[in-house]
Order: sequence, then C-alpha cells, then structure tokens
Amino acid sequence: MAVIQTMGLSKRYKDNWAVDRLDLRVEQGDIYGFIGRNGAGKSTTLKLLCGLAQPTQGEALIFGKPIQDSVARRRVGALIEQPGLYPDLSGRENLRLYATLLGLDSPVRQVDEILETVGLSPKEKKPVKHYSMGMKQRLGVGLALLGGPDLLLLDEPINGLDPEGIREMRELLLRLNRERGLTLLISSHILGELSKIATRYGIIQQGRMVEQITAGELAQKCTDYLHLQADQPQKAAALLERELHLKRWEMRPEGEIRIYEAVDTKAVGQILTQAGIAVEEMGLHRQDLESYFLERMGGADHV
Ligand SMILES: Nc1ncnc2c1ncn2[C@@H]1O[C@H](COP(=O)(O)OP(=O)(O)OP(=O)(O)O)[C@@H](O)[C@H]1O
Ligand SMILES: [Mg+2]
Repeated sequence: MAVIQTMGLSKRYKDNWAVDRLDLRVEQGDIYGFIGRNGAGKSTTLKLLCGLAQPTQGEALIFGKPIQDSVARRRVGALIEQPGLYPDLSGRENLRLYATLLGLDSPVRQVDEILETVGLSPKEKKPVKHYSMGMKQRLGVGLALLGGPDLLLLDEPINGLDPEGIREMRELLLRLNRERGLTLLISSHILGELSKIATRYGIIQQGRMVEQITAGELAQKCTDYLHLQADQPQKAAALLERELHLKRWEMRPEGEIRIYEAVDTKAVGQILTQAGIAVEEMGLHRQDLESYFLERMGGADHV
C-alpha cells in the first residue's frame, strides 16, 4: 500500500494553478525527494497533504485514507516553510510547549527522546533566537516528530544550511528512515544533497509532475548513452530495436535516438548504412545527475 497517493491533485490560486493534476506516489520506507525550482508548487503540495490547504480538484490518500481521516492524520508529522518557534524559549521549552498543546502522553520523556534524536542537548538553555540555522532546522524536525509519526513531510529542511549543517541533517534523516522506519517526503530545489539519500524522486515543474523515478532507475538513466542522429529516425530506431534487441532507448523530440545500454557502435553504423539510412551524428554521451534534473525542471536558468 502506498503511504501517499494523489490522484489529479490540484490547487488554484486566482487564475494560477499552483498544483496541477499531480499524481504522486510514495511507498512505505521511501525517502522521497520532491524536486522543483522556486515556485514550482512544492510547498503547496505539502500543505495539501497535511490538510493546511484544500484542493481545488483531485484527491490525496495518506495510508490509504482521505486526508480528513483523523487516524491517518495522526500518523503524519510536518515541517512546512519555517518552523513556528518561540524565539525566547529554549529548544526543550519549545518542544514541551507543543507537546503539551498537542495533549501528548508523557511529554517530558518524549521531548527528551526527540532532543537526543535530533542531536540537541536537553541541557541547552540558550533561547532559540541564538540557535544556528542548522540547530533551528533540526529542532523543526523535532517538532514534526512529536506524537511519533510514521510519515514526515519536510519542506526544504536543507535550505540555507552550511555544509556541516547539511551533513548533520542528512544523517538525521537517514537515521529516522533506517532506524525508526519512517517514510520521508523531502522537498528541495537543491538536488545534490538529496541525491545521497533519496530512494525515489518526483520532479515538479509549474505544478505538474514531470517525472517520478526510483534512485535505481535514475542511476541507470544517467549512465552513458549512445547519441544517434540519422536521416530517417523512426525507421532507424525500429531497425536497431529489432536487430540489436534493444530494450532501453528513447526517441527525443528532435528525432535524436538515445540508447541507454551497451551497444557496439560499429554494428549500429553497419546496420543503418546497409539499410540505406545515413548516420548524421553518433557518439557516447554521459549525463550527470545535475543536468538530468535541470533538464526536467525546466532548464538551468533561475534555479
Ligand atoms: N497562498 C497563496 N496565494 C496565492 N498564490 C500562492 C499562494 N501560495 C502559493 N502561491 C503560488 O503558487 C505557486 C507555487 O508556490 P509554492 O510556494 O508551492 O512553490 P514552491 O515550489 O514551494 O517554491 P519555493 O521553492 O520558492 O518554496 C507560486 O506561483 C506561488 O506564487
Ligand atoms: Mg516552498
């Protein structure tokens, strides 16, 4: 069963579709990297998923139940945009306040466990206004952990952190996933740091899901491919597929053929030439992860 499944989920603000017919699926145990540039609709999607915003159209299921279902909702923890922290209280006091407001059982014990999990000392008396960005973000994750959720929705938890902060956050997220079995949905416009931990990706552009792909599929796609431009691309592709038993290849809009498996380039040339098809260009190409995402996020500008 999917932990999150949305079907045509949409949200319109005036005449702007912030989320546009989004089909998203997160499986149990995933670290789902939800990637998109600024304004793509990440925060809005997360708000829809935790009931902070109402969909204009479509629906979303959490643990197989509609979002309004209180039992399913109690299994969700969220950190969206900025954590709502009281600046003059310490981290422990902030957590205890929220734990009490939520009416949790044994709040003190839960709070101290959470502080330990997120790597903050219960003895730290400093008010959070003097916390580093990394400490604030980890405290934000701590807030989302109150009540012992099975699913965490985290909106850009890595944003604005320095390399050390990023490393700590990454380790925390991995720990929550591996040791506690939490399913995580993490939004980001920075791919690099998510790529070290994500098991599945969803790429969103202008409210739409451009691609949903597992980390394994992504690794395969980003290996070398053979770039081929021939004068009769449809015919060439059909011929190569049959003769070389190709399984992983695609036809790009401009008629470029990309073959994502090891093939003998000499054999490709011979097959096409014998069929009277002229090879205009042929060469190996390596696509790195960053450019793969940039292409799908809508180009490299303004990222
Ligand atoms: N409450 C709102 N009222 C009107 N428009 C909104 C509202 N919230 C979001 N939008 C618009 O919806 C679109 C998606 O915004 P959203 O905040 O979901 O994007 P995002 O991917 O989280 O971006 P960022 O990386 O900047 O956080 C944007 O065009 C934004 O201006
Ligand atoms: Mg956002």
